[in-house]
Amino acid sequence: MSTVIKGGTVVAADRSYEADVLIEGETIAAIGDNLAGDKVIDAEGAYIMPGGIDPHTHLEMPFMGTTTAETWESGTFAALSGGTTMVVDFVIPGEDGMLKALDAWEERAARQASSDYSFHVAVTGWSEKIFDDMAAVVGRGVNTFKHFMAYKGALMVNDDEMFASFSRCAAIGALPLVHAENGDLVAALQQKCLEMGISGPEAHAYSRPPEVEGEATNRAIMIADAAGVPVYIVHTSCEQAHEAIRRARQKGMRVYGEPLIQHLLLDVGEYANADWDHAARRVMSPPFRDRQHQDSLWAGLSAGSLQVVATDHCAFTTEQKQFGRTDFTKIPNGTGGLEDRLSLLWTHGVETGRLTMNEFVAVTSTNIAQILNVYPRKGAVMVGADADIVVWDPKKSKTITAATQKSIIDYNVFEGHEVRGMPRYTLSRGEVVWGEEGSNEPRPGRGRFVKRPPFSAVNRALSTWKELTAPRAVQRSAEHMPIGV
Ligand code: URP
Ligand code: ZN
Ligand code: ZN
Ligand code: ZN
Repeated sequence: MSTVIKGGTVVAADRSYEADVLIEGETIAAIGDNLAGDKVIDAEGAYIMPGGIDPHTHLEMPFMGTTTAETWESGTFAALSGGTTMVVDFVIPGEDGMLKALDAWEERAARQASSDYSFHVAVTGWSEKIFDDMAAVVGRGVNTFKHFMAYKGALMVNDDEMFASFSRCAAIGALPLVHAENGDLVAALQQKCLEMGISGPEAHAYSRPPEVEGEATNRAIMIADAAGVPVYIVHTSCEQAHEAIRRARQKGMRVYGEPLIQHLLLDVGEYANADWDHAARRVMSPPFRDRQHQDSLWAGLSAGSLQVVATDHCAFTTEQKQFGRTDFTKIPNGTGGLEDRLSLLWTHGVETGRLTMNEFVAVTSTNIAQILNVYPRKGAVMVGADADIVVWDPKKSKTITAATQKSIIDYNVFEGHEVRGMPRYTLSRGEVVWGEEGSNEPRPGRGRFVKRPPFSAVNRALSTWKELTAPRAVQRSAEHMPIGV
């Protein structure tokens, strides 16, 4: 059984061109003119793009005394409905360690996912067991490890632990990811706000100013450089962090920055809303910033100093948010965005001229596939690639509302936003899993785990350079040594 997508324009990260796309089984078999297949998908007036990859989700994650409400079933279905064909979710080890946590995540995902998926594993301390387990994790097809510089007393790691873990990443060909906020400062500023009697969600932003993020971002980059490993900064939200990334990249350091769609579009003013629920629903770390930071992030995407737009989809219900009714530090941190990321970025990026269509594809799919070392199997419309494709209709529009969303939660932080540009069809490994006509239902168990090998080209290049420029002892003959040595 073959399928041909006809009449559209292929939009890749490097160019756009008119062509038909032939799919045989799960992969792209040919791209060209006048192709024929058993089944025809109409792409007249539409763009044929690689399906979105969201590299930052937290589905059914235990966190801050509760568990994110978005399930693997609802979350991956929501993703497909918005044109995202793969998610990469964070495994947070408990007392039983990384491998048991990875088992638990794999079990939930395999049973429920409609889309393909992969994992990052968090390093939340340092020990010989963690050192050993990291190699085993890589053996299971996970080549990224997350480090939290915030969440003091819970997930936070210190500089020495990060250096040890980053060094281990360098040795086993993995990529460290970092949540960069100075956790000691955040804890102190939170305390200060509470002492001042500011206990509402507005204090979330006061206690996490951009400087706290900029300092930690710079520190993480310097630690990675000392360890000789590339580093990926998640949810880069402000100019201070972007500046640290930009500066390091200009020096030749291998650093990536990931703004979220929320930080590109939503403002710190949200926390001043008179409605406590409205403000608390938007509590996430780092917090939303003001306009100048948004402009910096947009500029970074077009300049290439920031590479990926993700969502950090970490969705709690309004009821869960109310755990922090009298103390903002107890509001579970996280917002949603998985379903609407592509439409929002298209509307505010491509439609406004801030991004080209090719840049749109790069920052939603191709760049992260390369960074995660799974390109061109994912992130490309190319012969031999998995047929994860979105047929994108630039004329289709909607008003975002929780009333019609696929996400399980009871609100949407983008409620009322108008978007133009939506999927006409979403294909996952050659199968139409979302379409304008016909029934669209979750297909639990259909999604597959995507293994990602270690030692990406960037890891290897950096190791070579670090080896070449490593400190070396000077060999001195006896007559050049001080007497008595
Ligand atoms: O507030 C956030 N971002 N929640 C999810 C956990 C994290 O920090 O990524
Ligand atoms: Zn984080
Ligand atoms: Zn996150
Ligand atoms: Zn909008």
